[in-house]
Amino acid sequence: MDRPAAAAVLVGVDLGKPHFDAELEELGLLAQTAGLQPVARLTCKRKAPDAALFVGSGKAEEIKALASQSGATEVLFDQSLSPAQQRNLERQLDMPVNDRTLLILEIFAQRARSHEGKLQVELARLQYLSTRLVRRWSHLERQTGGAGLRGGPGEKQIELDRRMIGEAIKRTKERLSKVKRQRQTQRRQRARRNAFTMSLVGYTNAGKSTLFNALVKAQAYAADQLFATLDTTTRQLYLAEAGRSVSLSDTVGFIRDLPHGLIDAFEATLLEAVDADLLLHVVDASNPEYPEQIQQVQGVLQEIGAGGIAQVLVFNKLDALAPERQPQRLFDHYDLDGVMTPRVFVSARQGHGMSELRNCLSGLVQNQSEHAELSKPDEFGAQSDSPDEPADEIGHNRGMTG
Ligand code: GTP
Repeated sequence: MDRPAAAAVLVGVDLGKPHFDAELEELGLLAQTAGLQPVARLTCKRKAPDAALFVGSGKAEEIKALASQSGATEVLFDQSLSPAQQRNLERQLDMPVNDRTLLILEIFAQRARSHEGKLQVELARLQYLSTRLVRRWSHLERQTGGAGLRGGPGEKQIELDRRMIGEAIKRTKERLSKVKRQRQTQRRQRARRNAFTMSLVGYTNAGKSTLFNALVKAQAYAADQLFATLDTTTRQLYLAEAGRSVSLSDTVGFIRDLPHGLIDAFEATLLEAVDADLLLHVVDASNPEYPEQIQQVQGVLQEIGAGGIAQVLVFNKLDALAPERQPQRLFDHYDLDGVMTPRVFVSARQGHGMSELRNCLSGLVQNQSEHAELSKPDEFGAQSDSPDEPADEIGHNRGMTG
C-alpha cells in the first residue's frame, strides 16, 4: 500500500438479510486488507434503502458526527450504493464514501501480479468507472489517467471521460483476449498430455494457499489477508499412493456478493477451476459462518459453469476448532446440496490430516483414470461405456464415495 492508512467509519444498514453481523465483520477485514483502518462503526435498521442517501438524513448526520469524533476521513458502506446515493452522501458528509464493491476492486487492483490478472482487474475497474466516473482511488487516476480525468466534472468533461473509458475498455478487452488464447493453447497441451488436474477453490481466507504449500511444499503466498492470491499458480503434485503426478492449481478466493464485473473479469482465472477434473473445496471450519461460505462458493461455481465438477471438501483449521467440535474421524462425507461428498479434516498450517487427504485424492484419481481408460473410444470411434450409463463415482454432479 503506497499511501498511509486512512481512518474509516464502517456503516452497515440492516435490511433484514441474514448474516448481517458477519458481513459487517467482513467489511472490517476487507477495509484492513485495502490498507484502511476501521475506527468506528455505525449500524441501523431500515425496511428499504432511501433513494437519495441510502440511510435517512438524520442517520447521515450521525455518520458525519461519528466521523469527526473518531478522526475518520472516509466512510465505507457495506451495501452497494447507486451512483446518485454515493454522490449525495459525499456532498452531505463532505468526505469520500465508498462501498463494498469498490473496496473489493481496490484490493484486487493491489493484489494482481500477473499480466492477465492486471488486465482483468483493469477491465472490471473501467467497467465500474464507466457507470460512475468516480476517481478517488489514486491508481484509478493513474491508470485511466491523463489530464482529461483531472478537470472539473462539467458535462463536456464527463463525455470526454466516458469516451476515454469506452476506448480503454475496448483496448483492454482486446489485450485480454490475446492472453486468453495463449492460455487456451496451454490448456489444450495439458489435455493432450492427459494430465489430471485439480483446483483449489474456497471462500477467501479459508487457507487455500497454505494447503497448496503443504501439499506441494512450494511457497505460494499465504497471508491473513483477504484475496492474498489472485493469480493462478500451478504445480505438479506427486501422489505416491496413486503412482502418478497430478497438476494442482491455487485460485482466487471467493466472497459473498463478489461484484459481477469481477466474476466476468476473472473468468479466465476461474476457468482453471472450470477445467479441473476435481475441485478441492477448502473450508475454514473454525469460522461459524462456514455453511454460508460453502453456499457462496457453490453459487460462484454454478455461475462460472463449474457446478457439476466433482469435489472434495477440505475442512481446514482443525487446530483452531474447540475440543468439543473436533471430529471423531478425519475422513467422512458431507451433504453438499444433496450430494454426499468426501470430506477430509486437516490443519494445513500444522500438516495434520495430510495423509488422509492424499489417500482420498489418490483413490479418486485412480477411479477417475480407470473410468477414463474404459471410456476411451475404440478403433471404430465407439465408447466402451454405454452412453446411458451414469457417470462414475466421481463423475459430474454425482456423489463421490472416495
Ligand atoms: P485468499 O488468498 O484470500 O483466497 O486466502 P487463502 O484461502 O489462500 O488463505 P491463506 O492460505 O492465505 O490463509 C489465510 C490465513 O489462514 C493465514 O493467516 C493462514 O496462516 C491461516 N491458516 C491457514 N491454514 C490454517 C490452519 O490450518 N490453521 C490455522 N489456525 N490457520 C490457518
